[in-house]
Amino acid sequence: MDEVKRIKQLKKERNAIILAHNYQRGEVQDIADFVGDSFGLSQKAVDSGAETIVFCGVDFMAESAAILNPEKTVLMPETSAQCPMAAMITPASLKLEKKKYPDAAVVCYVNTPASVKAESDICCTSANAIKVVNALPENEIIFVPDRNLALFVSAHTTKKIIPWNGYCPTHHLILPGDILLEKEEHPDAQILVHPECRPDVVSLADQVLSTAGMLKYAKQSGSREFIIGTELGLLHRLRKENPDKIFIPGSKYAVCPNMKMNTLGSIIRALENNEHIIKIPEDIRIKAKKSLDRMLEVGRGD
Ligand code: 13P
Ligand code: SF4
Repeated sequence: MDEVKRIKQLKKERNAIILAHNYQRGEVQDIADFVGDSFGLSQKAVDSGAETIVFCGVDFMAESAAILNPEKTVLMPETSAQCPMAAMITPASLKLEKKKYPDAAVVCYVNTPASVKAESDICCTSANAIKVVNALPENEIIFVPDRNLALFVSAHTTKKIIPWNGYCPTHHLILPGDILLEKEEHPDAQILVHPECRPDVVSLADQVLSTAGMLKYAKQSGSREFIIGTELGLLHRLRKENPDKIFIPGSKYAVCPNMKMNTLGSIIRALENNEHIIKIPEDIRIKAKKSLDRMLEVGRGD
C-alpha cells in the first residue's frame, strides 16, 4: 500500500486528524486535514472533534495543541523538530526580567516553551501581535523572545516595548540585498515579508504579514507577482492556490531544517506506534493555557 493510502487508513482507525504548518514539506501539506499558521493551527486544535492530533510542525506548536486539549492525544512525529528561537528564552531568565519591570505585562510569542507561556500574561502570534499589545491595559510590555517582531510591534503602538534578544535563524538568512536584486528583475512585484525578518528587510516590504496573512493577501491582490520574504515551504501553497500568479523567493536559503523533519514515513510511524505523545506537567499546562486562551479571545489581527 502506498504511503498516502496507509495514512488515510490509519487516520480512520485512530479517529485522528493531521495538522500541518505552512512551512511543512509539500507532500505533508497535501495529506493534512488543515494547513495553517500558528494562530490558525491553535484554533483548529481546539475546534476539532478528533481523538488524536498528529501535529506536523515544530515543538512549540505541538505543545500548544496539547496545552489547549488535555483530553486529546497530541502526537509529534519527529521530536527533534525544535524551534531554535523558542529555545532562546527560559522561565528563569524571564522571571529575572519581570523583577526588573514589575509594572510591565508579559506578551510572549507562541514560539516559546510551555514553561515560558506559563510565566506570561498572554501569547501572540505573527497574525495578532499588534492587536494583542494594544488590547492590554498596561503601558509597558516585556515582549519575548523575538526582537524583530518586538521592533515591528513597537512601530505600531504608543506603548513601551521591552524586547528580548531572540531571533529566527532561518528568517535572518533573508538579506535586503537579495530582496532588492529580485525587485530589480521584477519591478512590478509586491514585497511580502514575515515580521521575523531583520528590520532592514521589513523596511523594504509592501506588506508585513503572518504566513496565513500572506496567503490571504496574495489571493485577494490585483498584483500578479510577489517577492516572498519567509521560509520557502510557504511557496508550495501560494503556487498551488494561485496558479496564475508568480511567487519569487526572497532568499533561496530560507529553509527551516526543523520544519522539514516530518515526512510521510514519520507520520505513519507516529500513527502506528502512538508516538511521540506530548505531555505537559499539569501545573504548567494550566498557567500556559490561560495565556493561550487570552490570545484566542483577542482573535486574528491580519
Ligand atoms: P506563522 O505563525 O506566521 O505561520 O509563523 C510561524 C513561524 O514559526 C514563523 O517562523
Ligand atoms: Fe522557529 Fe524560525 Fe523555524 Fe519558525 S522558521 S520554526 S521561528 S526556526
